Amino acid sequence: MLRWYWALWLAAARGATPYATPQLRGFGLIDVQEIGLGLAARNLSAIQKVLITVANSSNGTEEVLHEMEEIVNETLEPSVKRDFEMAQFEIIEFHTLFLKCEEDQHEALSQSASQQKQIIHLADEHLMCRKHLVLLMDASRSCETLQQAARTVVDARCALEHSSAIPDVTACHAWPDEDPEAYHERKIKDFEASLAQILERKKACEEAKAEVVAQEARCSKAAQELINGHQECDEKQLRLDSAVCALQSHMATSCEGYRTCRSAALSGVRSVNATVQSAEAEVQATWTLLTKVRCMIEGAQQKNVSKVQMCLEQTNVSLKNLTINYTTVPAVTPCQTLVEAPGSPDYMEALYGHVPKRAPASACQASCCH
Ligand SMILES: *[C@@H]1O[C@H](CO)[C@@H](O)[C@H](O)[C@H]1NC(C)=O
Ligand SMILES: *[C@@H]1O[C@H](CO)[C@@H](O)[C@H](O)[C@H]1NC(C)=O
Ligand SMILES: *[C@@H]1O[C@H](CO)[C@@H](O)[C@H](O)[C@H]1NC(C)=O
Ligand SMILES: *[C@@H]1O[C@H](CO)[C@@H](O)[C@H](O)[C@H]1NC(C)=O
Ligand SMILES: *[C@@H]1O[C@H](CO)[C@@H](O)[C@H](O)[C@H]1NC(C)=O
Ligand SMILES: *[C@@H]1O[C@H](CO)[C@@H](O)[C@H](O)[C@H]1NC(C)=O
Ligand SMILES: *[C@@H]1O[C@H](CO)[C@@H](O)[C@H](O)[C@H]1NC(C)=O
Ligand SMILES: *[C@@H]1O[C@H](CO)[C@@H](O)[C@H](O)[C@H]1NC(C)=O
Ligand SMILES: *[C@@H]1O[C@H](CO)[C@@H](O)[C@H](O)[C@H]1NC(C)=O
Repeated sequence: MLRWYWALWLAAARGATPYATPQLRGFGLIDVQEIGLGLAARNLSAIQKVLITVANSSNGTEEVLHEMEEIVNETLEPSVKRDFEMAQFEIIEFHTLFLKCEEDQHEALSQSASQQKQIIHLADEHLMCRKHLVLLMDASRSCETLQQAARTVVDARCALEHSSAIPDVTACHAWPDEDPEAYHERKIKDFEASLAQILERKKACEEAKAEVVAQEARCSKAAQELINGHQECDEKQLRLDSAVCALQSHMATSCEGYRTCRSAALSGVRSVNATVQSAEAEVQATWTLLTKVRCMIEGAQQKNVSKVQMCLEQTNVSLKNLTINYTTVPAVTPCQTLVEAPGSPDYMEALYGHVPKRAPASACQASCCH
């Protein structure tokens, strides 16, 4: 920055050459160069020394002082402001790195929110499955009971059938005064009745046996349904546990990414911070210097030696517009983690504490539970 100023002052010195003639006493090329050198070295006393001489000198210096003022106005001050703006711009640019990290993290959080929603859905489905399993257990159990009953019925009915036998002695006594035809008809009826009873007992036994077979079929179907139900619930549980594993790994990945992003942004900001702080100090020092130089030029223009002398004591230079707005580092968004480690007793209680006692969840089989 200073080399740049120095070149300008040399240019000013060249511009001032016409006045650096012996007739213009007190203000020559050497003086202007000395001002340039003083500025480059930030040696205000050197500048002051020249300008005091100028202020104490006779006419013929106005134009050169005017040019100096112009250079201060149009080149040096704008250059300081530009340097300041560039420094400020760098801070803002690097700050956007943080915003990018926050954006990514926000995206990761919303994705994990949708994963969490899915987990809730899977947990509901699993719970319903286990509840249904209890119904299947009840169905299977009542089927067994019915089958037991059907077997009892078979035993009873078929025992009755077997008890049907040909009587040892058939009472064939005719009633008094019974004629042979009536006797035979009565006997036929008796036999028909006992035959009907035998047939009925036989049929009842067969029916009971058929019922046992039908009941056995129903029970084996119920048992199969129960087995399938167990399998289905275990599959649902595995899907749920796996979704938790995916969430856990997503959280870890996004958290790691966020930390890396932030630490990269932080080191970028720290390094630019250091550069900008020194640029800020330099800009402010140069501005202060220019303010005093301007004051001394004014004093010289007014031919007021004491003003030129007092300019160095001027301390109320306003640096308000040359103060860097160091944006603050945004607060860390807390990383998400699972409170319960998948597969741990706390995890099982949190996720499966509500399933029916009779249809408990299986041990976690998902990848992150091992
Ligand atoms: C500043 O300039 C004055 C006068 O030219 C000189 O005496 C002094 O040594 C200089 N100071 C520095 C620090 O260069
Ligand atoms: C100003 O110039 C006069 C003579 O021209 C000299 O006597 C006086 O000491 C000078 N004052 C300063 C502060 O240089
Ligand atoms: C300075 O210039 C003014 C007019 O510009 C003139 O009246 C005055 O005599 C000059 N003084 C000297 C010392 O040259
Ligand atoms: C320089 O700027 C000041 C105000 O900042 C103004 O009063 C002065 O006339 C300007 N001088 C030149 C030569 O432009
Ligand atoms: C940058 O510097 C400013 C001023 O010294 C300070 O307030 C801020 O905390 C620094 N920022 C970082 C990230 O170091
Ligand atoms: C010279 O400048 C000083 C300080 O600004 C001021 O108090 C004094 O009145 C000025 N003298 C003249 C002759 O203008
Ligand atoms: C600073 O002080 C000088 C004289 O000491 C005065 O002319 C000027 O108005 C002051 N500037 C501010 C911004 O206070
Ligand atoms: C600071 O900047 C504001 C707006 O850009 C302007 O109005 C104000 O005059 C400036 N102040 C100084 C001391 O340069
Ligand atoms: C500093 O910069 C931040 C972010 O760009 C902005 O919100 C804040 O208003 C600025 N503060 C000042 C005093 O300019």
